[in-house]
Amino acid sequence: MRIRSRLLLLMSAVLVPALVVAGLGIGYLYNEEHAFNRTSMSETARAFALGLDNEMARRESMLRTLANSRSLERGDLATFYRFAAAVAQEEDSAIILSDLDGRQLLNTRIPHGAPLPRMLAVERENRARLGNEVTIVSDVYLPPANLGPHSFAIQVPVRGDGKVIGFLTMASFAAQMQKLLEAQPLPQGWHATILDSQGVVVARSLEPEKFVGTPVRPEFATKLKAHGEGFHEGTTLAGVPGTVFFSRAPRSKWVFLVTVPHTLLYGPALRTALFLGAGMLLLLALGALAALSAARRISRPVEALREAAERLGHNEHVEPGAFGTDELDSVSQAMAQASARLRGTTAELERRVADAVASFEHSQRALVQAQKLEALGRLTGGIAHDFNNVLQTLTAGLDTLARDAPEERRKLLARCQRAVARGTELARQLMAFGRVQELRAQTIDIGARLRDARTLFSGALPANVHLDYELEPALWPVTVDPTQLELALLNLVINARDAMPQGGRIVLAAKNEADGVLIRLSDDGEGMTEAVMARALEPFYTTKGVGKGSGMGLPQAYGFAQQHGGTLSLESRRGEGTTVKLFLPRARDAVVPERAAPPPHVAHGAGKVLLVEDDAEVRDTVAAALRAAGFEIHTASAADEALERLAAGELYEIVLTDVVMPGALNGVDLAREVKRRFPRIAVVIATGYSERAVQVPGVQALPKPYNLRDVVEALNSALRLQQQQL
Ligand SMILES: Nc1ncnc2c1ncn2[C@@H]1O[C@H](COP(=O)(O)OP(=O)(O)OP(=O)(O)O)[C@@H](O)[C@H]1O
Ligand SMILES: [Mg+2]
Repeated sequence: MRIRSRLLLLMSAVLVPALVVAGLGIGYLYNEEHAFNRTSMSETARAFALGLDNEMARRESMLRTLANSRSLERGDLATFYRFAAAVAQEEDSAIILSDLDGRQLLNTRIPHGAPLPRMLAVERENRARLGNEVTIVSDVYLPPANLGPHSFAIQVPVRGDGKVIGFLTMASFAAQMQKLLEAQPLPQGWHATILDSQGVVVARSLEPEKFVGTPVRPEFATKLKAHGEGFHEGTTLAGVPGTVFFSRAPRSKWVFLVTVPHTLLYGPALRTALFLGAGMLLLLALGALAALSAARRISRPVEALREAAERLGHNEHVEPGAFGTDELDSVSQAMAQASARLRGTTAELERRVADAVASFEHSQRALVQAQKLEALGRLTGGIAHDFNNVLQTLTAGLDTLARDAPEERRKLLARCQRAVARGTELARQLMAFGRVQELRAQTIDIGARLRDARTLFSGALPANVHLDYELEPALWPVTVDPTQLELALLNLVINARDAMPQGGRIVLAAKNEADGVLIRLSDDGEGMTEAVMARALEPFYTTKGVGKGSGMGLPQAYGFAQQHGGTLSLESRRGEGTTVKLFLPRARDAVVPERAAPPPHVAHGAGKVLLVEDDAEVRDTVAAALRAAGFEIHTASAADEALERLAAGELYEIVLTDVVMPGALNGVDLAREVKRRFPRIAVVIATGYSERAVQVPGVQALPKPYNLRDVVEALNSALRLQQQQL
């Protein structure tokens, strides 16, 4: 059911019973009023009827007095005439004396002695019907020619010697009754009529001249004959519909009527009913209008809410509406909130999906990048390692040659040495990237290290580039090769400098994070494009002009991070600067205090050395160089052979071995065996592969490629250590 129909029903449910009750109330009041009116009518009519009889009685008694007058007794008609004439004049009537036969003896309207007419035929008929003894009140009659208008008469018998001897009559014009009638007060609009016993009008409060002498309508006349009094509904002689109450006077038998026109009797009720009906209709119409407008006022917001709900279903934006109805407003509010939440949730969901996709893509890219770098690293490491061996041979050979070369060859040899040194440096960088570099890892206080290195970094910067430090206090210790760390950071600082040709600011920050130390190096320079950033970690990739950049800075830093179990990542955007994040895992052990600086360098030493090296060229050049430096050198080409000779009782102070060797044992195994079986002998392992540089207690490592100075130093320090321990 629609709201409109409901409201209309509700409105009718309230209004219709109210109107019915009002109608019943008015009906009740009307009935009361009607009953009251009828009572008043009957009472008035009865009172008037009695008044009429009183008048008749007065006249009768006046006639009786006259009838008993002395002059009449004496038969002195002349005296009686005078007396009667006086009364007649007073009453404005005629007094007539007649004998039993109906002859008039005296008539005050006719001079005494003049001839007199006979008693009226009606009177004679009445006497014949009713006898001589009674008083008779006549009906209305018209006197014979020109003796006047409608009249009526009262007649009493006259007695002489106890017998009726004649009749005394008082004849009056009906107009007298008219006066009597008009003297009676009647409510406004009511009228009264006096009828004679036959129902002929004697007097009438309205238009008497028209209706006096007229008989009432036959049906009413019949009713009058049948009942002494009662109501009658009908039409007046003048044709006006009305209600009549009639009451017959007991003595005269005349009838008194009180008439109230229907317009007066029913008019007010009718008007009230009409008014009520019209009011009812008006109220119903107004109620319907109000219901319709209320329905519209309710329907419109409901429709708006429906639309809002639809929008909510489509996850569109829903505005809170103001309908001016608290309940609807709160529903709308709730929907708007739900919409906001829903949209928020959707947006959040979309954001999360986008984040997840982005982070997936990012890690995918990172993985590809890592795999690429890994492959590159292996390749580079492999090549660099072999290349390093070649350089090792060259270095040792050149060193030896340079020792006793004649003056004119020295220059050439020095040039060769410089070229080999450059090659060695390059090989070192490649090995760093390939992570095949021997590490001199130690656990350090990285904060202190960074502070110490500040001078180094600042030295690489022009005046217009500022370097700011933001170091968290109490950074965890890390286990790194400090030189490699400084080199990596220096590479990053130089890159930052190069990115800010107009000058700028570099921030070096470090803090503890997750399970390590995060070092961030940021600049506000030109930044990198995606394409540059994707390749920046590759060795030899550079955007700097020929001779300006080798493309080995970032690869070194990256290799450094990887080799120490850490990570290196780039964040950059063209024009927005670059941040390089270097993460190093927290050290498991405590910081080792810095060793005292090594004693001043002596490029010579002494001692009996067993050199174990499979590469004959390397073996020979190194042996020659060491002999030149003062050592007593014996050689073996494999670990197994070396061990056999030791077992056979050859005495050495020190064993210098390479790692990779043919045979059952490698250099590390040999070192372990020597340490186990011949603890008095010092061991030095020369290695290019840090991965294979297994820490053997009491064994010194010597990173390859080494020059004569490095190896002499290593041998000397191993001997010193050995002597201290013994
Ligand atoms: N901080 C930086 N801002 C902008 N670009 C950088 C930054 N660091 C590196 N790059 C870009 O990455 C490339 C590779 O850097 P990398 O350090 O490996 O080599 P290089 O600086 O070009 O040469 P090298 O460091 O060997 O002298 C750079 O050429 C440069 O384009
Ligand atoms: Mg660089």
